[in-house]
Amino acid sequence: MSERGPYRVGVVGATGAVGTTILEVLAERGFPAAEVVPFSSERSAGAKLPYDGGELECRPLSAEAIAGLDLVLSSAGGKVSAEWAPRFVESGAVVVDNTSYWRMHDDVPLIVAEVNPDALDSHRGIVANPNCSAMQMLVALGPLHRAVGIERIVVSTYQPVSGTGRRAMQELEAQTHAILHGSEVPPAAVYPHRIAFNVLPQVETFKAGDDYTTEERKMMAETRKILGATEDELKISATCVRVPVLKGESESVNVQTREALSPEECRRILAGAPGVMVVDAPGDGVYPLATEAAGRDQVLVGRIRRDPSHERCLNMWIVGDNLRKGAATNAVQVAELLHERGLVRVPEGAAATPASN
Ligand SMILES: NC(=O)c1ccc[n+]([C@@H]2O[C@H](COP(=O)([O-])OP(=O)(O)OC[C@H]3O[C@@H](n4cnc5c(N)ncnc54)[C@H](OP(=O)(O)O)[C@@H]3O)[C@@H](O)[C@H]2O)c1
Repeated sequence: MSERGPYRVGVVGATGAVGTTILEVLAERGFPAAEVVPFSSERSAGAKLPYDGGELECRPLSAEAIAGLDLVLSSAGGKVSAEWAPRFVESGAVVVDNTSYWRMHDDVPLIVAEVNPDALDSHRGIVANPNCSAMQMLVALGPLHRAVGIERIVVSTYQPVSGTGRRAMQELEAQTHAILHGSEVPPAAVYPHRIAFNVLPQVETFKAGDDYTTEERKMMAETRKILGATEDELKISATCVRVPVLKGESESVNVQTREALSPEECRRILAGAPGVMVVDAPGDGVYPLATEAAGRDQVLVGRIRRDPSHERCLNMWIVGDNLRKGAATNAVQVAELLHERGLVRVPEGAAATPASN
């Protein structure tokens, strides 16, 4: 896909961890954009951002500034998406939204490009990009579900600070630097506890009366929506953990299949699956690592082995770059699919706020 045009593409949250990666990926993949327009809050208005060998100037969101856009890739937080996604749609642009705000709405498709691209066909102007943890897990589990059916998943995540954004990366770096230099450690501001040299069994927040975090709830609900499964059809339990890593999310996944699946057959299915790289020679020290996944678009899968406690269960270790496949790359893949399928258009009568979930 190397020709330029025909779309005017808005990137909302363009100065953020995800937004800057979206600009990189759009240029790398040669997305057919006649123009790319970066948006931020007033704070970063006027900032110059690198794009495709040149520079783009960031602007704040306004009714005038968004006129004439065809496609918007948005990652400026749920509050911005709640307000602005319907306004983009009303002005004629299709939105690929990275926040959690629209993901569970009934008429908003939630898409992993390799797993459920056909769900795009019914979009009503807004398409949602899944949570990074669910996304990378499903790139690997989607093909297994198609082949033998999955009835239960138990997953623990090891999530990097870039998943929380720029300020969290600065917090880890500043705390680590202070500890290593024997100076006063800056107090935790983004996270509830110090993240440097620590492991936090909390990603996002606990809603009143719930002993699972909002991240764990999202992972469970979004996995079912993407695979089109009910709670009865697919049991899932998630524990989400923040670790002092900058980029690259790791996941320990226990999968119970409907039909028996050997580790060898699992490796064979995954070796032929789009977006997956099998990295699995543990005796030689070869397995997926966050450092190896960072900067790549594939999801790495290894440590594939039988669970000795159950005849239809396998364990595996799944690693991906949360900013690339977990966010920016999938958003750009969705934009490419919309382009290829002639779906960069808002269907008639879709300008109203989508139905709630
Ligand atoms: N990080 C990940 O791995 C990841 C993965 C999937 C989804 N997401 C989701 O993507 C969103 C952004 O995440 P991030 O990690 O990129 O955060 P981030 O690094 O904190 O960046 C936030 C971006 O939003 C902009 N922004 C904030 N308030 C705004 C407003 N009122 N109007 C316009 N722009 C505004 C910021 O602009 P300024 O420079 O002006 O502040 C910045 O560009 C979140 O909803 C997050 O849940 C993140």
